[in-house]
Amino acid sequence: MKEKVKTVAEKIALSKLGGGKKRMDAQHAKGKLTARERIHFLLDEGSFEEMGALVTHRTTDFGMDKQIFYGDGVVTGFGTIHGREVCVFAQDFTVFGGSLSETNAEKICKIMDMAMKIGVPIIGLNDSGGARIQEGVRSLGGYADIFHRNVMASGVIPQISAIMGPCAGGAVYSPAMTDFTLMVENTSYMFVTGPNVVKTVTNEEVTSEELGGAITHATKSGVTHFTAMNDMECIAQIKQLISYFPQNCEDIPSSLPYSLQTEIREDLETIIPENANQPYDMRHVIQELIDTDTFFEVHKLYAENIVVGFARLAGKSIGIVANQPMSLAGVLDVDSSKKAARFTRFCDCFNIPLLVLVDVPGFLPGTDQEWNGIITNGAKLLYALSEATVPKITVITRKAYGGAYDVMNSKHIGADLNYAWPTAEIAVMGAKGASEIIFRKEIMDAKDPESKLREKEQEYAEKFANPFSAAERGFIDEVILPKDTRRKLIKGFSILEKKVVNLPKKKHGNIPL
Ligand code: COA
Repeated sequence: MKEKVKTVAEKIALSKLGGGKKRMDAQHAKGKLTARERIHFLLDEGSFEEMGALVTHRTTDFGMDKQIFYGDGVVTGFGTIHGREVCVFAQDFTVFGGSLSETNAEKICKIMDMAMKIGVPIIGLNDSGGARIQEGVRSLGGYADIFHRNVMASGVIPQISAIMGPCAGGAVYSPAMTDFTLMVENTSYMFVTGPNVVKTVTNEEVTSEELGGAITHATKSGVTHFTAMNDMECIAQIKQLISYFPQNCEDIPSSLPYSLQTEIREDLETIIPENANQPYDMRHVIQELIDTDTFFEVHKLYAENIVVGFARLAGKSIGIVANQPMSLAGVLDVDSSKKAARFTRFCDCFNIPLLVLVDVPGFLPGTDQEWNGIITNGAKLLYALSEATVPKITVITRKAYGGAYDVMNSKHIGADLNYAWPTAEIAVMGAKGASEIIFRKEIMDAKDPESKLREKEQEYAEKFANPFSAAERGFIDEVILPKDTRRKLIKGFSILEKKVVNLPKKKHGNIPL
């Protein structure tokens, strides 16, 4: 028995060495942690239970039978984060560059299946040179096995991908199908084809970092939701992110203890400027409404004209979608619509109530927007909010103009409680634009067209640039004071916890993709 125990210990010790000390040193020299170190810092101390530590590849071509590493380039298992169970896989770059072999893929699939069976989030820590070149199509099959599981798990368990090294070619499509992607600055990149192929095909000269680095994907493509300065920050972000989620689609997010304090927030009274065209930072409104320092912004650097993120209200997890007057006056455009729609759908999948803060002058005009499909893309947000069955509360802080009024969680598309501040302007369009159209003849015929326009503008504004017309029709449930808003939201979300909505029977809807 002693001998047998010794053999097991030796094998496990070997598997912990990954590709060996030299390659681990090389990993550290790049400023990266190893796969095991990442798991160590991600999970609660001592909670990790490994699966498949002794798996080896089955390839004999190209002298591969002489290069056997226990674990085969990926560490998989389960453990806890702040006491909550999760499944995890971490690609080990020290073994064949973390490349995906048939057996390596089997390990990832096995832990994904486990996460599905027990209903817990799956976290993938990616750091890989892509398909194991020595294995050819077997490796590609492995990717597809993972992709299929990503799709099956979508909306069932939260899926998180951290990119902590290379992620290229087909490998990018697993993270792309998960719910959230995080990238480490300067040490990670994602692209379908790398700089060399780009140069050959399009003659463009571009570095890996410019083509697919963390900042590129956070600002230009929106492929990543978060960026981190280093591995440790990335791991801290994963832990924070997951704290807002339930374990699966049949669970609800856990609450933090909360004792009701005074819920009046006087500072909210002074955020909206006197001049309706002056911008203000919607993040100030958010900070004043939620529990202190609980806002975790998603896609912070992408489509900044809409702000989305998780927060806590009286200890409970909520998702926030808010127009941002500081950027492009808060208009809806292609990117902001896609960003908000995807976030909305995540919240709806996982029973996270939605708060929508509205200050929107409309959709962004122009050929660029029309030719890039603002119609289809704007419809995504309309569809997502309309379809969501989680508790939905809207607060109109200022402008709610035109079709964007409908889209931004209006009563008509199923919002449960719709509030407006006294500063709200709910109308087809701004008073100036409206007057120029409906009083055009009168203004042109006037002796002083300028003052006539101002007079008509004033007349239109008095009639429509307020929340009352909408409130009279019941489109707004109540006009509330900004300082009372937090209290109203806490009460509203509390009563809505009992909400039940049954959607018509169908296979699935057909969101305009
Ligand atoms: N299949 C098999 N082994 C791979 C691999 C792959 N796809 N990618 C990397 N490796 C191995 C390397 O042979 C090397 O092995 P060694 O430690 O025994 O020398 C090790 O992983 C590290 O790779 P290296 O090239 O030294 O690291 P790097 O940091 O300089 O470069 C990459 C990383 C990913 C840019 C580079 O390895 C690469 O271009 N890999 C191939 C990418 C690819 O075309 N993938 C297939 C299509 S998806």
